[in-house]
Amino acid sequence: MRGYEMLEELGERTQGVWHPSPGSLYPALRMLEDQGLVRAVETDGRRQYELTSEGQADQETRAAGPAPWEAMMDAADQAELSLSSTLRQVSMAISQVAEAGTADQKAQAEDLLTGLRRQVYLLLAEATDTATTPQPPAPGASPDVWRRVEEYFDGALIGADDGLSHALAASEAAGLPGINVSPSQGKLLSLLARNIGARRVLEVGTLGGYSAIWLARALPPDGRVVTLELDPRHAEVARENLAQAGLADRVEVQTGPAAGSLQTLAGAGVEPFDLVFIDADKKSNAEYFGWAMRLTRPGSIIVIDNVVRGGRVADAGTEDPNVLGVRRLVDAIAAEPRFDATTVQTVGSKGYDGLIVGTVTGP
Ligand SMILES: C[S@@+](CC[C@H](N)C(=O)[O-])C[C@H]1O[C@@H](n2cnc3c(N)ncnc32)[C@H](O)[C@@H]1O
Repeated sequence: MRGYEMLEELGERTQGVWHPSPGSLYPALRMLEDQGLVRAVETDGRRQYELTSEGQADQETRAAGPAPWEAMMDAADQAELSLSSTLRQVSMAISQVAEAGTADQKAQAEDLLTGLRRQVYLLLAEATDTATTPQPPAPGASPDVWRRVEEYFDGALIGADDGLSHALAASEAAGLPGINVSPSQGKLLSLLARNIGARRVLEVGTLGGYSAIWLARALPPDGRVVTLELDPRHAEVARENLAQAGLADRVEVQTGPAAGSLQTLAGAGVEPFDLVFIDADKKSNAEYFGWAMRLTRPGSIIVIDNVVRGGRVADAGTEDPNVLGVRRLVDAIAAEPRFDATTVQTVGSKGYDGLIVGTVTGP
């Protein structure tokens, strides 16, 4: 509601007194009455509302800024206005029918109007409640809830695996940062690999080998993961973790800048990879995607991690090199007709982030 103007627009106003016709002004006046700004008075058996002294003072000062009661009457007020106006129109239409018809028709029309009024009042009351009752925040908005939900699902859907647990513990003990994928993301990678019958997987960004273990577990006995890692210390911890998980012969950790390793793989004309997981330095994402397209075949899957970055990806004016790296990647994907992709936004122990998952569609 826009203050008293709405009352003036709707009702017959005479020097601060309103004569509400049923359905048109009652809800607005009742709210004003609750605020002590108007009071109901009975005159000749007819209910009227008039301004209290507070209402008068309020009306005088409202030009200086929004009145306190206006804040209460925002979202629902447009609905009230339109419901009230609808009711008045219905009322006028029924009066016309009643005037033109028989006594029976008139009685029926009045019954109909009474029922309609009741429904509209209920709707108005609901709208008012919604607008004035503070709503609790959505439970899903809290990182603490994300974590608990993740624990719940992981507990139910992801079994214990000594190799994975050891990799996490050993990586932490070795001082590696905890920037590995979460268990549910690792499981997603392994499901994707298994569902396409992947035999050859390429990973860019090994860290301590946690995601490499997930991927390698999804492959048949003759399957192979090639994983690329810049930091020799990370590569060393990863090799130990992979050996501990019984996967030393299935996973090859190549040390050095990934761009060079990718170029070498492409130059050597290696058999195409069925799945590529890109999870290294984000500023080089577009370059890695370009290599991934060269090292795959139609039907291969490419997954790129950390593309939402707490929502910052949508900031077109960003100067964050990692976000810029993601946005360059998205441009490259959008311009690549042989790759069909989508984004999955994620929340959980790793905060608010997301993955791009796509399929290579052409040679
Ligand atoms: C997010 S972590 C990988 C996490 C791993 N995929 C997992 O989920 O267990 C990124 C890794 O990429 C490595 N890295 C950063 N820049 C790189 C580069 N230019 N070439 C290869 N690896 C790089 C980092 O040293 C780090 O170990």
